[in-house]
Amino acid sequence: MTDVRELLLSRIRDVPDYPEPGVMFKDITPLLADPAAFVALTDALSEITVRHGATKVVGLEARGFILGAPVAVRAGLGFVPVRKAGKLPGATLGQSYDLEYGSAEIEVHAEDLSEGDRVMIIDDVLATGGTAEASLQLIRRAGAEVAGVAILMELGFLGGRARLEPTLAGAPLEALITL
Ligand code: PRP
Ligand code: MG
Repeated sequence: MTDVRELLLSRIRDVPDYPEPGVMFKDITPLLADPAAFVALTDALSEITVRHGATKVVGLEARGFILGAPVAVRAGLGFVPVRKAGKLPGATLGQSYDLEYGSAEIEVHAEDLSEGDRVMIIDDVLATGGTAEASLQLIRRAGAEVAGVAILMELGFLGGRARLEPTLAGAPLEALITL
């Protein structure tokens, strides 16, 4: 494991039985509070973003906003928020996806993405892959191309990568840490 990965991993806190019994929550707030770790994370994600030729950064509400916005600034690109439904005031495109219990919907301002855009999707965690899958569908429906998905932490045992493979359609999925 590289020094950067070790640094990042050392700043992620395991919280047992949160938000419900049996779940080990990965808390990134210690990483965000440590300037060296937050800068290293931003640098690593923007390196991926630039390497894959992205022209825009999409962050997924809420933790993907915290990670994605500094990446966009560092890479010299615009930032587009994908929000949970009902939060954006303009004309939106929406995409529903299934949760363990029930469903959720995410939205993007239709005017923020268009043909010719190459989008890097940024989020903190890839778990089941449902959130990332819906965001890939949303970006393509908006007419943009997917440059890739860049994630801080992939929970490999939940199978998100396999679920995403057909929707990625060859676009890269890069995780800085795989657990
Ligand atoms: C969490 C996490 C990812 C998503 C991953 O977001 O930040 O976005 O779940 O899960 P999945 O791969 O199974 O879809 P969540 O909406 O729970 O919370 P947040 O608003 O704090 O980001
Ligand atoms: Mg999230």
